[in-house]
Amino acid sequence: MKAKIIKLLKNANTPLSGEIICQDLGVSRVSVHKHINTLRERGYAITASSAGYTLDKEGDFLFPWEFEGRESLIHYFEETTSTMAVARDLAEKGCPTMTVAVAQRQTRGRGRLDRTWDSRDGGLYFTVVLRPTFPINQVYKVLFTASVCLAGVIRDLTGIEASVKWPNDILVGEKKLTGMLSEMATQDEFIQNVNLGIGVNVNNNPSSVEPNAVSIKELLGREFPRREILSGFLDRLESRLEASGEDVIALWKQYTSTLGRPVRIQTTRSVLEGTAVDVNSHGSLMVELADGSLEEIFHGDCFYRSGEA
Ligand code: BTN
Repeated sequence: MKAKIIKLLKNANTPLSGEIICQDLGVSRVSVHKHINTLRERGYAITASSAGYTLDKEGDFLFPWEFEGRESLIHYFEETTSTMAVARDLAEKGCPTMTVAVAQRQTRGRGRLDRTWDSRDGGLYFTVVLRPTFPINQVYKVLFTASVCLAGVIRDLTGIEASVKWPNDILVGEKKLTGMLSEMATQDEFIQNVNLGIGVNVNNNPSSVEPNAVSIKELLGREFPRREILSGFLDRLESRLEASGEDVIALWKQYTSTLGRPVRIQTTRSVLEGTAVDVNSHGSLMVELADGSLEEIFHGDCFYRSGEA
């Protein structure tokens, strides 16, 4: 009901009377009034005049009813430790594919290689539970597809020149705009679920704690609705994962800024330096070392040696 009321108010050019809302939705005046009050309590700027209700400002909300058709799959939290922990719990309880845990803020946001992810108000923090039918050795397809979808959606919606850094970061120039973390549960040689945790710097100011990070707000000079990024990303991801036979590595290469760059690779065990020359058909980064030999990197973090992003 809340989704329908919000949609009516967003589409209206003039104030909407309670009577029209009741008629459109086939519910009582009391019920409409109750839902409007709940929406106001959640922060929606709905004013009432003798002519009816008006939504003064769209706002930047991530409540389930903001995602039409996905409401039952969106689990929203004002605050949580980490959406990775919530998603793991949901997955263990058998939630369907494309279930999303999203939080306004996280108290223990996690990054790759045991780093913390600054998760204050304004950023977009979510984990999507996916249940692809691929064997384990094709899990790279999910991660690379997600990077392509996220970079594409950011470019198309904001006009920002987002590029992908191996394996799954999105940068603008040398600065980090998004990070991605994954967890997988398997049975035999098949994937039970892959949980993709994504942090996007949208309306936060990450550069105050991390000089090599930037947000959409800092780049555009104005706030941007996080809902549009999440919604666009989920739509693209769902349809891309369903479309079989796409060469996702070829698509990813169209967006990457990694190839041809001098890089430093950090894994949990070692650090090496060289030039990133290719990403192979399994998603591994091929690095040419100073002696001309090639090293295949399966997992790790990649830093550009010029800017260390
Ligand atoms: C990285 O280090 O680049 C990965 C960062 C991933 C951060 C996201 S925010 C949502 C989800 N919950 C977490 O605790 N981490 C991921």
